[in-house]
Amino acid sequence: MEFGHVPFVQQRSWATPDWVVLWETDGEVATFCNIVEREILVDGQRRKAAGINNVITPAAHRGKGYASQVLREANAFLFRKLQANMGLLLCADALVPFYERLGWYTVDCQLVYDQPAGREEYDSNVMLLSPAHTNRQAPAHIDLQGLPW
Ligand SMILES: CC(C)(COP(=O)(O)OP(=O)(O)OC[C@H]1O[C@@H](n2cnc3c(N)ncnc32)[C@H](O)[C@@H]1OP(=O)(O)O)[C@@H](O)C(=O)NCCC(=O)NCCS
Repeated sequence: MEFGHVPFVQQRSWATPDWVVLWETDGEVATFCNIVEREILVDGQRRKAAGINNVITPAAHRGKGYASQVLREANAFLFRKLQANMGLLLCADALVPFYERLGWYTVDCQLVYDQPAGREEYDSNVMLLSPAHTNRQAPAHIDLQGLPW
């Protein structure tokens, strides 16, 4: 319902998530996000990425802080449980301030991913999350080594 009508989404193949972080209220899904575990190449070096996608709050529950809370919970999961080196998400311009408030930052880099017909380069925002108390990264090139999320 949220992304099925978006041409960029419709026209591409996407990674199957490994995890879902979900928040319920009164027996209903209040918000959730997907997590993909993937070894990627960051400036040619192998790194474990935790990819976030499909952050969705059903319309009736929006604006109550649920997605922010789930993303904060997910942060601990990415770095403590999954032992990821970095969080990585792809998003449109409008959502950048939302993720920035949660500690994510935009990087100016070339990002490539696989599609059945070959490789493609992503041309919108690449955002990273670094583990607490570590420096922000500034890679020039990221290869997702598979389907995007
Ligand atoms: C984005 C989304 C997950 C936020 O869920 P939420 O539970 O309402 O989030 P929170 O209550 O924690 O934060 C709300 C803030 O998100 C930001 N936000 C939400 N939708 C936004 C949009 N379309 N454009 C820009 N900012 C947006 C706003 O800053 C908003 O603050 P406000 O309520 O003061 O305006 C929800 O709006 C949604 O499901 N949207 C459709 C799917 C989507 O675009 N997901 C993001 C994929 S990258």
